[in-house]
Amino acid sequence: MESKRPANEGLFEQMGALLGGFNSLSNILDIGKVKPPIEQKKVSYKESMTYMKQFAGKNILLTGASGTIGANIARKLMKSEVGHLVMFVRRDDMMDSKTKMRLQNTPNAHVEEIDFREPQRIEQKFTYCMKKHFQGKLDAVILCHGVVTELGVQNCSVPDYDQLMLVNVRSNVHLISLAFPFLKQSKTSAITLLTSTSGGE
Ligand SMILES: NC(=O)c1ccc[n+]([C@@H]2O[C@H](COP(=O)([O-])OP(=O)(O)OC[C@H]3O[C@@H](n4cnc5c(N)ncnc54)[C@H](OP(=O)(O)O)[C@@H]3O)[C@@H](O)[C@H]2O)c1
Repeated sequence: MESKRPANEGLFEQMGALLGGFNSLSNILDIGKVKPPIEQKKVSYKESMTYMKQFAGKNILLTGASGTIGANIARKLMKSEVGHLVMFVRRDDMMDSKTKMRLQNTPNAHVEEIDFREPQRIEQKFTYCMKKHFQGKLDAVILCHGVVTELGVQNCSVPDYDQLMLVNVRSNVHLISLAFPFLKQSKTSAITLLTSTSGGE
């Protein structure tokens, strides 16, 4: 039997016809106006700062500096003559004594308190650090904060879940989006994200 649909009718038109009431789904989606993707310059990760380990003179934002991984990175960076290092911690009294000692001898390293369960403070804190410590120049963001919970989905309440997502997911997206315009201006920028294992169950 001959099809009633014109031969050149595309998938979107067919979907539109199925939905009914719409002349063409492509009109609704405004597909004709979608621009081709902007050509991106491909940069190999091997050219990135973290791969080359060229931290000297670089301005770096590090989160979770009171944690196991974060504190180790913080001490290594303080030894490697970074430009400015800003360490985000939830509470600075939680930082270990070795990191605190090195901090005393590293005037270009700064500690800033922030609790990622309060997302409304992130932009304000970031902007403050960009002006006060980094003078508008940022080369790398190393995100090492996170909470690991043993609670599986059956024992995790919705408010608990929201808090977990604020810390482990939303704060990372927010910080990266704030940092991105500055990182684009740096020749060897890098984003390192240690995602939490929470939520794996
Ligand atoms: N260790 C591993 O083998 C491993 C493997 C894979 C992935 N990871 C992930 O890597 C990240 C770091 O691991 P880690 O072993 O260093 O963890 P950790 O020792 O538990 O450190 C977590 C860090 O996140 C900070 N943090 C937690 N809640 C926060 C909040 N609401 N606001 C601001 N900071 C907050 C902690 O601050 P406080 O000290 O103030 O609590 C601490 O500095 C985690 O996301 C972890 O899940 C770790």
